[in-house]
Amino acid sequence: MSKLYIIGGNKLNGEITIPSAKNTLLPILASCILVDGEVKINNFTNYRDCIIMTNILSSLGAKIKYEGSAVIIDCRNINEWTITTELAKELRSSFFTLGAVLGRIGLAKVAYPGGCNIGARPVNIHLKALRDLGVSIIERHGYIYCNADGIKANTIHLDFPSVGATENIMMASCVINGTTIISNCAKEPEIEDLQNFLNSCGANISGAGTDTITIVGVGHLLHSTEYTCISDRIIAGTYAIATACTGGSVKLKDANSQHLIALTNVLKNAGVNIVENKKSLHISADKRLVSVPHISTMPYPCFPTDLQSQILVMQAISNGNSVISENIFESRFKVVPELKKMGAVILVKNNVAYISGVECLYGAEVYATDLRAGASLVIAGLVANGYTTVNNVEYIDRGYLKIEEDLSKLGADIKRID
Ligand code: UD1
Repeated sequence: MSKLYIIGGNKLNGEITIPSAKNTLLPILASCILVDGEVKINNFTNYRDCIIMTNILSSLGAKIKYEGSAVIIDCRNINEWTITTELAKELRSSFFTLGAVLGRIGLAKVAYPGGCNIGARPVNIHLKALRDLGVSIIERHGYIYCNADGIKANTIHLDFPSVGATENIMMASCVINGTTIISNCAKEPEIEDLQNFLNSCGANISGAGTDTITIVGVGHLLHSTEYTCISDRIIAGTYAIATACTGGSVKLKDANSQHLIALTNVLKNAGVNIVENKKSLHISADKRLVSVPHISTMPYPCFPTDLQSQILVMQAISNGNSVISENIFESRFKVVPELKKMGAVILVKNNVAYISGVECLYGAEVYATDLRAGASLVIAGLVANGYTTVNNVEYIDRGYLKIEEDLSKLGADIKRID
């Protein structure tokens, strides 16, 4: 298992380009299953999660090739409809292939998905929505068997605006006949990007970004396209928080400030200077930050759960007391004992963390408990006195491509030990 070795105290300075969004690449890779031709995805970023997703596509019969920074996916020969436990347990998003496999083949056998250990992560909303579309589903021996013989367009209300369920239904319904409407759908920018991708392949989808999406099914498979995804707002947010915590000055090129309003509001309240341009965000901080009294995670456009662990570190070193409520994933606070080893003063009761800001953290040997927890421990290591070893770096690699190279470029003293 790799480790990151960090000597804290350096301010982050300079500029960095934010890569394509993992959470768009994953559903887009899955939806290539619906395309009867080649799909070229530019600026492809080989996050570990994306490698697992391409392995899943290969296991179904897809051909994958790389051309410079692009990946070309050809799913014309897909003839398999089983996602095995071995592949599914690696990646929650393996479940996004369900809607696409049903759209192409009409049958699917999918193992219950794995992924980061941040909560129970059930799939009931996905399954209810698919049943509303007329898909018959049997759950047996760890597998979900689906048959889309009776699939038909429908109006579907989601009990909770699940990102994955919204994406699954968009994929399953865009190639059938009739109009499907999803109400109370997720509004994340990644949903809008998936809509734009599917439309570039000939689908007819509108409304993404609002709480109702309309999918006019085209009744056949989609056609080839070339596509460039939006940038990763969570990586941009992570580096913005890291810059603020170290008291540095960093320009985040290709960061979309519109996607980060909930975060930039918090940063501004904490005393961080932010200059927003059309295609970049400049973050700087020149004094100790002040605690933001209450942050609460909620679906987009509210504060994202994927930046909660990172902002927890910022609150832990800011001046004052604060509270963070986690409303999406119940196990996100598993990182707290690790931060306490570094001197953070945090008390967790149920889904709420009470934080007393301390003047400084101290280096320690810590263990990433999930992807974003890993990123937060790296930020803690950057600001701590002395050296920090972050274990379980494989979690971080799921959603950051060589985080140590990005941060070294910005002046951090960080290296990977394999
Ligand atoms: C996506 C993101 C993840 C992010 C999350 C919330 C991807 C690849 N991952 O995950 O990074 O943290 O959105 O913004 O895009 N739920 C159910 N039943 C279901 C589905 C979800 O109860 O069938 C619950 C989940 O347990 C969770 C909440 O709904 O409490 C949100 O989950 P969801 O929006 O589905 O997250 P993911 O799509 O898995």
